Formats: sequence, structure tokens, C-alpha cells
Amino acid sequence: MSNERRISAAGLSTRTTDGTALDAWFPKPVLGTADLEAEQAALESSAGPDERRGVVVETVSLTIDADAAPASTVDAYLRLHALSHLLVRPNEINLDGIFGHLPNVAWTNAGPVHPDDAARLLPQLKHHGIELQGLDKFPRLTDYVLPAGVRIADASRVRLGAHLSPGTTVMHEGFVNFNAGTLGASMIEGRVSQGVVIGDGTDIGGGASIMGTLSGGGTHRVSIGARTLLGANAGIGISLGDDCVVEAGLYVTAGTKVKVGDETVKAGELSGRNGILFRRNSLTGAVEASARAGVGVTLNEALHA
Ligand SMILES: CC(C)(COP(=O)(O)OP(=O)(O)OC[C@H]1O[C@@H](n2cnc3c(N)ncnc32)[C@H](O)[C@@H]1OP(=O)(O)O)[C@@H](O)C(=O)NCCC(=O)NCCS
Repeated sequence: MSNERRISAAGLSTRTTDGTALDAWFPKPVLGTADLEAEQAALESSAGPDERRGVVVETVSLTIDADAAPASTVDAYLRLHALSHLLVRPNEINLDGIFGHLPNVAWTNAGPVHPDDAARLLPQLKHHGIELQGLDKFPRLTDYVLPAGVRIADASRVRLGAHLSPGTTVMHEGFVNFNAGTLGASMIEGRVSQGVVIGDGTDIGGGASIMGTLSGGGTHRVSIGARTLLGANAGIGISLGDDCVVEAGLYVTAGTKVKVGDETVKAGELSGRNGILFRRNSLTGAVEASARAGVGVTLNEALHA
């Protein structure tokens, strides 16, 4: 493997008393190889047992190959960190079989707990004021990484592994999955599914939906270009290029029949094209695509400061 395709980090991993890894946190992952000894030693003071949760926190360090499949829980967590630290872009790191390496975890305000232990230790957890926030394979991004220049209104709406570039705002109704995110300043008020990449200056309107590929049979990985507007409650199952607009409330899937002038095409044939307005004609009900000139949307700069 080339050195640029390696990722190295020292961190802390939470383990159950029988040694099952529940998570790993890497404060400063880097591309390439690195001497991690000093960094690992510095983390030692944060390691140790937490009897309230039935876990032991241990220091770890490792170097992984971004092109190889994840080999362990700690390795899988380093991949998620690499995405969220913007060391790699979505779809540019091997995540094959990642679900198998991510145990389901009871996430609490004191850190991860094994779900069986959480059920067993519930009275003790309550006694210590430890609150359960979710049962899931992925933690919240902001418990592990604080991306620079980004606003996230509701921490529970963005998973570790999200790639959020400076200037991005994720409002309460927005959601960003792992291995998905933004390449520039964007407004996210809808759902950004796994594998979806959003270009600079693009606005994903309130309640909008972007079709994913993890479940439900979808196979097309959607990407959206720059300065494009996905209207409120709109949805998209094809890629959009730069300077496009999808009318509020219109869902365009790959098979949607679209009128382009006098012709009818499937929306999939327009996938990725620049400068298109998709609109449902409110008189005929037909979905129409028309070329639009100029810049798509301009974000309200005051919201991205
Ligand atoms: C599709 C959309 C971009 C059109 O907006 P627009 O380009 O400003 O166009 P206008 O509303 O000025 O309409 C232009 C003409 O098209 C007509 N028109 C607009 N939408 C139409 C529709 N769906 N069917 C038929 N005619 C329509 C208008 O009545 C108007 O007709 P006129 O020339 O006779 O007056 C807009 O309706 C939209 O959905 N924007 C999304 C905004 C959004 O959701 N932002 C995110 C917030 S969270």
C-alpha cells in the first residue's frame, strides 16, 4: 500500500470486562504512518475501569490500509474518524463489511455500555445519573469529532463517519449518515443517506429525502453538485449536477417519466446533468424538466458564519 493510503492514530477504546471492544476514539488521526508512542502514552491518564458501566478504557494505536476492508472494531472506528476528520472523502475508503465490526451499543452520557450490561446495570446507571441516549451501532459524531466551522443544531442527527466541510449547517430536521456529507458550505435540512455527497453551496431543503443504498433495494449512489436546491419535502433518487432545482414536494426517482419539451424520458437519463429544473406541472400532473441558466441557489451567508 502507498503511504498516502495509510491512516494512523492513537486513541482510547472502551471494552467490556470480557474484552469485547465497544468503540474507539482517536483525537488526532493522520494520513500516512506516524510515531504514535508519545501520543498513546499521553492518553494513559484517561484509561482505566468504569465500574458503573462495566467497562475498561484502554489505550490503542494502529495504522490501517484505507483500501483494505475493516479488520476489527477499532479499525472500523478509525475509518469513521478519518471520514469525519476530512482525511478521506465519502466513498474513498474501504468500508466493506463494516456493520459486522460495529457492535450494537447502549450509548449513554457517560460513554458506551454493552446492551446486556445496560439492562443488568440499569438501577446503578440511574443512581449515577447516567442516561441512555440510544441503542445503535454508530455513535453521535459530536461525541468523537468536532468538525471545524460547522453548525449541528441537534447532535443526535449526525452519525460518526459523517464528512462535514467548513461552512456546513445541519439544522434540527437534517440528518447525515456515516460515509456521507458535504464538500463545501451547505445547508442541510433534510436527510443525507449513506454514500451521498453534497457539493459546495447546495441547499437540502426542510424534510427533503435522498434515496440511499443500504436498504430498500436502491443501487444508485446519489451525488449532488454545487449550488443546487432540493426543495422542502422534495426527494431524489438520481444524481443532480450543479445549479439544479427540484421543486418543493416533488419526488424524482430513476424511473419517473419526465417531459423534456415534447419528449418523454426517464429521470435516470438526466442523472448528474447540470442546470435542470424539475417541477410537477400543477395543471397536468406531469413531471417536467427544463434547462435553467445561471447560478442555482445562493446560500444566506449569515447562516454559515
Ligand atoms: C419550483 C420553484 C423553484 C419555482 O419557483 P420560481 O422559479 O421562482 O417560479 P415562480 O414561482 O415565480 O413561477 C413562475 C411561473 O411558473 C408557474 N409555476 C410555478 N410552479 C408551477 C407548477 N408546479 N406547475 C405549473 N406552473 C407553475 C407560476 O405560476 C408562474 O407562472 P406565471 O409566469 O404565469 O406567473 C419553486 O416553486 C420551489 O419549489 N422552490 C423550492 C424552495 C424551497 O423549498 N426551499 C427550501 C426551503 S427549506
